[in-house]
Amino acid sequence: MLNVAVITGASAGIGAALARHLGRQGYCLVLAARRVAELHKVAKSTGTEVEVVTADVRRRADVERVKDAALRRFGHVDVWVNNAGRGIARRVLDLSDADVDEMVAVNVKSALYGAQAIVPHFQERGRGHLVNVSSVLGRVPFVAQRSAYNAAKHALNALTANLRMELRPTHPGIHVSLVMPGVVATDFAANALGQSGPPPAAAAPAQSAEEVAAVIAELIAHPVPEVYTNPAHSEMAARYFQDVAAFEAQAAGPAPDTSPAPR
Ligand SMILES: NC(=O)c1ccc[n+]([C@@H]2O[C@H](COP(=O)([O-])OP(=O)(O)OC[C@H]3O[C@@H](n4cnc5c(N)ncnc54)[C@H](OP(=O)(O)O)[C@@H]3O)[C@@H](O)[C@H]2O)c1
Repeated sequence: MLNVAVITGASAGIGAALARHLGRQGYCLVLAARRVAELHKVAKSTGTEVEVVTADVRRRADVERVKDAALRRFGHVDVWVNNAGRGIARRVLDLSDADVDEMVAVNVKSALYGAQAIVPHFQERGRGHLVNVSSVLGRVPFVAQRSAYNAAKHALNALTANLRMELRPTHPGIHVSLVMPGVVATDFAANALGQSGPPPAAAAPAQSAEEVAAVIAELIAHPVPEVYTNPAHSEMAARYFQDVAAFEAQAAGPAPDTSPAPR
């Protein structure tokens, strides 16, 4: 039987690179995003059978249409990758209601809609793999300027873990995985809400979208609960949880001395 993968946010960046990677492995693909011309360009570059679906993942009905189109075209889905997402460049004290709503809609609700659309199909089949693309900032919120994005990805991490725990006793054939990239060389920073001027300096060298796609493809071939695409981030997260104060002092620089001046 054909292997079928659905990828949201497939018109650019990590999603497009993953489409090409899975295409080379012989997957049939369903590619979703808002920019239809870009989606068709990516579809052509995959060398496989592709269904293109224009969808805004902030809308539940659009995500349902992606599932319907996949089942109509290929009859089943093996892998669903909630990859679409967007950053923000705004500090906590400057966040508006609209900023927070946008971060939650595009980074959290989108993936919830995806899970609620496809998991019943996985349950009927007794198998399937849901992959949520989060960020290392969803585990360690060390870039203050990403504020509500970090918060949204933390929520995505929690929902992913809870869905996995929920399904494990009854549906051991369904895998639910979390992917946490660090900085990846895509248009992500330029597309961030409120971005003006150069994006924040990266703490580590950027990975390419292709490198990240290869990690996700490996995760699909050999499912595990979660993966940092940059292996150094596992140790970084351990350091963070061991001593938050020390970690933050190192990330942000030492706090100014507020002790009273000697008299
Ligand atoms: N690049 C990084 O440094 C980095 C680091 C950690 C995690 N990530 C995560 O990796 C994922 C992919 O990001 P990327 O780096 O590939 O960013 P990107 O180059 O900006 O691509 C984002 C993709 O998401 C789609 N998208 C955005 N809003 C959407 C919406 N409302 N509805 C449907 N599709 C939407 C975009 O397509 P359209 O504009 O055509 O809709 C595009 O295909 C995101 O979840 C991001 O949070 C990225």
